[in-house]
Amino acid sequence: MNPIIAPSILAADFANLKRDVEVINKSQADWFHIDVMDGVFVPNISFGMPVLKAITKHAKKTIDVHLMIVEPDRYIKTFARLGSDILTVHYEACPHLHRTIQNIKLEKMKVGVALNPHTNVNVLEETINDIDLVCLMSVNPGFGGQVFIENTYKKTKNLKKLIEKKRSSTKIQIDGGVTASNAKKLIKAGADILVAGSFIFNNKNPMQIIDKLKKINF
Ligand code: DX5
Ligand code: ZN
Repeated sequence: MNPIIAPSILAADFANLKRDVEVINKSQADWFHIDVMDGVFVPNISFGMPVLKAITKHAKKTIDVHLMIVEPDRYIKTFARLGSDILTVHYEACPHLHRTIQNIKLEKMKVGVALNPHTNVNVLEETINDIDLVCLMSVNPGFGGQVFIENTYKKTKNLKKLIEKKRSSTKIQIDGGVTASNAKKLIKAGADILVAGSFIFNNKNPMQIIDKLKKINF
């Protein structure tokens, strides 16, 4: 199976956002990955609702929103209204994760749960059947362009085992430092969705890079 490719808008040129959105529209990419950071849960602030609104005006593919914010429950309805198809919250930001998952579903969005690099996949043992995707952070969240954490291969395999044990259809997303050099090994370990920011947008030909990632298989 070829991976789902989700280019991260964080690495796009914000002065030419429409142009970069059109590149993704025309490419073989499957989703738009939108990183929302609040400067509290992570040590950086990215962008918020007005920018998402501008993106969804032109984007013609699935909108995958990754919330790196505290108290994400406060904004579930807002992100639904803005056109998010998938809403991912951090396990570490949700003391009542089960309730948060139900609230996202009530708004008719798919549910993602992200795990920081230090969080064991087994914390999702009781909720995995309610989650559409698990986002394994392969860098510490907050910034694009960081180095991929090698332990992610092992985590991906462990998560795959948990999903199979629970007979769940949850997809595995990898986020951070993804390149053509680690993509194959990640897919082999069980990854279904690859997020890539700087690897795509720091290249002269982002569309070609997307095609290259999309073709990777094992
Ligand atoms: C990191 C973000 C990632 C980031 C990926 O906090 O969640 O989605 O944009 O960017 P690269 O591919 O540059 O690591
Ligand atoms: Zn992300």
